[in-house]
Amino acid sequence: MPVIAVVNRKGGSGKSTFAAHVAAWCARAGHAVMLGDVDRQQSSRNWLRRRPSDLPAIAPWAMDQNTLRVPTGISHVVLDTPGGLHGFELARVVMFADAIVMPVCPSMFDRESAALCHAELMALPRVANGRCRIGVVGMRIDGRTNGAEVMRAWADAMGIPFLGVLRETTVYTRALERGLTIFDVKPAQVATDLGQWQSILEWLEPVISPPQAANDGPVIRTQAPTRIASARPENLMPAQDSLVHGTRLSGVSATRTEHRAVAGTLAGSRTQVPQFLKR
Ligand SMILES: Nc1ncnc2c1ncn2[C@@H]1O[C@H](COP(=O)(O)OP(=O)(O)OP(=O)(O)O)[C@@H](O)[C@H]1O
Ligand SMILES: [Mg+2]
Repeated sequence: MPVIAVVNRKGGSGKSTFAAHVAAWCARAGHAVMLGDVDRQQSSRNWLRRRPSDLPAIAPWAMDQNTLRVPTGISHVVLDTPGGLHGFELARVVMFADAIVMPVCPSMFDRESAALCHAELMALPRVANGRCRIGVVGMRIDGRTNGAEVMRAWADAMGIPFLGVLRETTVYTRALERGLTIFDVKPAQVATDLGQWQSILEWLEPVISPPQAANDGPVIRTQAPTRIASARPENLMPAQDSLVHGTRLSGVSATRTEHRAVAGTLAGSRTQVPQFLKR
């Protein structure tokens, strides 16, 4: 099961915005995705409540006896994390992640904070041994400035893969206000911004759709993906089992109907997520 965590200890760097968009992208690609809020502010859960029911569904955590669970049938997990996440709590998130995206605003203070966060991440075994990859996105870049170049140069100097930049624009705030992402509005209205997501989604693609193993059957897709960039490979691997130790999450992509049922009722959850997500 691909798990993508959005991490940066700097508050307000765009983590929730970014996480909502990755989840919406997965949902539009036909995946049964959960957007999990590790953040006490519950920004993502609040945004999910606003999401129109006729859009591709994104499930929240299931809550069972004060324990957060990944609902049954979920094939992809996106984790939104709080500012200030570090130490043991950061390590526990990373234990489950296949990819970490760090949205970083271009100011010197933001870069310095992100450098510390990156150093801490790199010291964690799962990152150090390459099982979890890290990339950085320049966030809220003012197109009138050289913010994009500054971010690229910084990422290169740090040796962090640079996925691209997202500009500062009200299209994000306006969409999120309505429970949407820019993937849910008319492409012509957000063409510039969709273009900026292209390189980011290309980097995420092997995580979202890992290459198929030789003995795996074909994936049954429930909905044609909304394409921005290159076509997806035809051979896609069924969602992998969870990396959560001691548990086996449901690894089969649910139909959209099943997914909606999961998102709507949160019933029948069997898989327990460890205590660290009980914030
Ligand atoms: N590209 C963007 N253009 C304009 N506004 C943006 C953009 N990205 C994020 N924002 C806005 O910036 C603010 C902070 O974003 P967001 O809540 O996603 O950050 P965060 O890192 O999750 O914050 P926190 O650390 O408090 O959880 C929000 O008001 C959001 O709407
Ligand atoms: Mg947030």
